[in-house]
Amino acid sequence: MFSDTDRLIRHAQIILPDGDSLLGDVQIRQGKIARIAEAIAPEAGDDVLDAQGLTMFPGVVDPQVHFREPGLEYKEDLFTATCACARGGVTSFLEMPNTRPLTTTQAILDDKLKLASQKCLVNYGFFMGATAENLPDLREANPSCGIKIFMGSAHGALLVSTEAEIEPIFAEGTRLIAVHAEDQQRIRDRRQQFQGITDPVIHSTIQDRKAALNATQLALKLSKKYQRRLHILHLSTGDEAELLRQDKPAWVTTEVTPQHLLLNETAYEKIGTLAQMNPPLRTAKDNKILWQALKDGVIDFIATDHAPHTLEEKAKGYPNSPSGMPGVETSLAVMLTQAKEGKCSYAQIANWMSAKPAEAYQIPNKGKIKEGYDADLVLVDLENYHPVLREEVVSKCGWNPFEGWNLTGWARYTIVGGQVAFDRGTINTEVRGKALKFG
Ligand code: DOR
Repeated sequence: MFSDTDRLIRHAQIILPDGDSLLGDVQIRQGKIARIAEAIAPEAGDDVLDAQGLTMFPGVVDPQVHFREPGLEYKEDLFTATCACARGGVTSFLEMPNTRPLTTTQAILDDKLKLASQKCLVNYGFFMGATAENLPDLREANPSCGIKIFMGSAHGALLVSTEAEIEPIFAEGTRLIAVHAEDQQRIRDRRQQFQGITDPVIHSTIQDRKAALNATQLALKLSKKYQRRLHILHLSTGDEAELLRQDKPAWVTTEVTPQHLLLNETAYEKIGTLAQMNPPLRTAKDNKILWQALKDGVIDFIATDHAPHTLEEKAKGYPNSPSGMPGVETSLAVMLTQAKEGKCSYAQIANWMSAKPAEAYQIPNKGKIKEGYDADLVLVDLENYHPVLREEVVSKCGWNPFEGWNLTGWARYTIVGGQVAFDRGTINTEVRGKALKFG
């Protein structure tokens, strides 16, 4: 029953791509949305799901996650991460190359794709990482992957931080380049300057707004010089948003995380190193400017940068604690709670968390509730509230930065290619997603 992909979902409040909503039914045939109408009669063999009282959104497409497999499975793995996706209503993800070995060749990427086909409950795609030496690998890589450049905040071969190293990557090829934009030299100098300070609040001063702005400016400059498709990952400062408002070529996109919209430096007082991430949390003023930029379309969409580390690692204390926080399990409910409180509309959430990332990464047939599209859907409850509780966290890391937040819009059902991966609290671990075409 669980894995059947012919089904009829009835009586849902359906968020449609044009921004309207319809109280009606969705017929699914062979994993695709076959029909959307006010009332559709069940046919023989239809598995009928009564969604009375629930709102249907397109499944979330999370285009920036770190799922740690292979090599760092003690933090997370593709199975536990995608169980967390199922709970969170995330039906597709694009994953970053800082696993072990680093994803820097097609052979390593192929191994990851194979692992994913065996372990992922939701649809998957992977970035290849740029190094100072792997231009030939990037050139020959399968067309269906993106290139990630860590301009800062990375260790070892994945760090490509100088203009001389970065420019050849922009100069060659046409596929999309996604950048983690922080100025590594500036971070190095400031680490030196603030050495010995163990209050994690210093993290936002060391990896400051200028470090972010410098790198974003450099990436923009190179993208313009070569007219190269560029995506700027996790924008953290109002300064970058204002720069992009003045100067954003049509081929450039950017994103923001829920935590950069909703948390700021005051979070260190409450959750200490759990608030430590790269780029760091900023100020309440930055939160406000980022929100406005998202609403105005300067920022194109939302990604979580799900980057789990264990509580033991986080307990090492600053600066020995690693940067990063999980996100896929709570991103949709966190954002829908904002919508419920009137900060934005439900249609905007569907756009920012599903349609726009699918469009920017050219993922076909994803991100919209539309006939002919893949039946990747999430049915959420916008009537009830439930807090984020540590004991309920599915991600292997076992914690969440939004613990204690009382949220509405939790997924009741998550549907991946017509299969029910999450059913009112139960994860169907048999469901498997498919490889995404993107780039
Ligand atoms: O805080 C972060 N942690 N930011 C990133 O972009 C990557 C990351 C990680 O992999 O832990």
